[in-house]
Amino acid sequence: MLLLATPSLLQLTYCSAACIAGYWLYWQSTTGRRHRQFVKKHGCRPARKVKNRDPVLGLDAVFAMWRWSDQHILFEKTSQKFFGSGAKTVEFAFLTANVILTCEGENIKSVLSQNFRAFGIANTPSELELLLRGGIFLNEGEAWHQSRELIRPSFARSQVADLDMLEKHVNTLIDGIPRDGSTVDLSTLFSQLTLSTAIEFLFGENSDEEDSAADKVSNHAFTEVWDRVSRYLANAGEGEHGKLWIYNYLLDRIRMNPQYRRDCSTIHHYVDKLVEKSLSSKQLESLSTSTTKPRYVFVHELVSQTTDKVRIRNESLSVLFAARDTTAGLLTNVWFELSKRPDIWTRLRNEIDTLNGNKPNYEELKNLKYLRAVLNESQRLYPIIPAGGRKAKEDVALPVGGGEDGRSPVFVRKGQFVLFGIHAMHRRKDLYGEDADIFRPERWLDTEEKRGLRMGWEYLPFSGGPRVCPGQNFALTEASYVTIRLIQSFPGRLESRDPEPWRELITFIVSNLGGCKVGLFPRESEANPDKGERARLKGGFELAIKMPSPILGAGCNGS
Ligand code: HEM
Ligand SMILES: *[C@@H]1O[C@H](CO)[C@@H](O)[C@H](O)[C@H]1NC(C)=O
Ligand SMILES: *[C@@H]1O[C@H](CO)[C@@H](O)[C@H](O)[C@H]1NC(C)=O
Repeated sequence: MLLLATPSLLQLTYCSAACIAGYWLYWQSTTGRRHRQFVKKHGCRPARKVKNRDPVLGLDAVFAMWRWSDQHILFEKTSQKFFGSGAKTVEFAFLTANVILTCEGENIKSVLSQNFRAFGIANTPSELELLLRGGIFLNEGEAWHQSRELIRPSFARSQVADLDMLEKHVNTLIDGIPRDGSTVDLSTLFSQLTLSTAIEFLFGENSDEEDSAADKVSNHAFTEVWDRVSRYLANAGEGEHGKLWIYNYLLDRIRMNPQYRRDCSTIHHYVDKLVEKSLSSKQLESLSTSTTKPRYVFVHELVSQTTDKVRIRNESLSVLFAARDTTAGLLTNVWFELSKRPDIWTRLRNEIDTLNGNKPNYEELKNLKYLRAVLNESQRLYPIIPAGGRKAKEDVALPVGGGEDGRSPVFVRKGQFVLFGIHAMHRRKDLYGEDADIFRPERWLDTEEKRGLRMGWEYLPFSGGPRVCPGQNFALTEASYVTIRLIQSFPGRLESRDPEPWRELITFIVSNLGGCKVGLFPRESEANPDKGERARLKGGFELAIKMPSPILGAGCNGS
């Protein structure tokens, strides 16, 4: 009896085939029909497909990307692979997803701005969730809107970054630089600076007298924990993971690294403490009674809107996360390039010489056009966030990229990812010219014959639309101020101590793998009199020689 009741293999095959066909018919008459109607209505045509050897999962592409990432050429190679044919919007299989990748400003604008509501942020790894849940960075929809409203006033003032506050931290940085031209890796110093300025911007001054020895230890520990968490989140193959990268990766998927869990709660507790301290009546009191211009503090601004301390902690942690490594990465890239290009460094120093060695005020800082062009050019060639993306929450059309000529709209179905190739877009020859791969700040400047570049959605170092980086002004002011004061302190010469070219170091941002190893000289004649003489004869260096250097005494303990 039992045998008779068991269906034969043939029966099974028929049954499954019928099921699949039935489901297919059902899908075609519902979702499929909806898709076809949408495509017809909007005149959509498919984007160019990038063929993978594995057409289903695109495993060959996945492994190639892993390899490129290890070799620090991921963005260079993916730009070639996907846009090499000349198409600016392409579609390809990536594991279970069918991804659309675009380097077309019009499409990015449509996703980030015009169709803002139709898209949500792409999948967030659970590790990042654990650290940043409940803050602006990961919030979506109404929760995001509330976060953004909450922090908006804190960024609204024209002068977000307080120059006096920056001066103090820059002096610490300068104290850490040898004055005899011996090699220093500025990237480490930049990271310390951007962490301490972000903390002071968020929580106010952490005055030394108040700090017990125990606090000092925990400040130091915090930096360490924060660095470890950054490295962990980045899954950077360097050292830590070594050849076991994939093994560790899979293991961490199954069971989140316990050290990482502990680190996250250390960070939460530490930031709780900072919030507590910052909101203590003492600090707020001194704020209201102080006769000098009150220092601007992020969380003081938040308390006027909410008294929920966990909320305040979550939001300020997200801003801390967004502010630190990004700005340090920008400074590292800029100074790395300056060390390789004495011509650019000299022109920049000549511009900064117009300040006569004085601290710039905010207007003076904004008027240094060449400095701004150098920052623009650095962010063009080496965008700190070279790719972005969103996930469609409903069926939607991108304005361009479909059909043979790429001018028809492209259909994006609900759940599909749209990725932005910022790196590729910033190097497009049709936008930036044949020399797009070369670092040339002059392209941003107006001359008598030619207007400098004015980019819209084709230049997106800080993203765009409602979720545009609110810290843009803060970051540019900080990077400018640090660069000005550093050049004023070391107007002699800047030497590269790294034979390698710029290479990608991928964490959750991208900056230079080799950091920024340089030698800095307070005076041209120092340490290398021969070279100095020759340079002076060629002209252009006189200003620096004459230039008084007031901060040498003020900032560096008279050394
Ligand atoms: C060179 C430095 C910086 C770069 C290149 C940069 C870039 C970006 C980019 C591309 C985004 C959008 C991310 C996305 O939507 O996927 C973003 C978001 C954000 N940035 Fe920045 N950023 C920098 C510095 C800062 C600083 C200094 C702060 C704060 C003081 C900051 C605060 C934020 C916040 C809070 C967000 C989230 C905004 C939202 O989701 O509504 N950033 N940043
Ligand atoms: C704050 O963050 C914690 C931990 O990430 C999370 O569990 C909590 O829900 C968040 N609270 C609020 C009010 O956002
Ligand atoms: C730098 O880029 C921004 C954004 O595109 C632009 O508004 C600005 O005019 C540029 N400035 C200079 C001096 O390059």
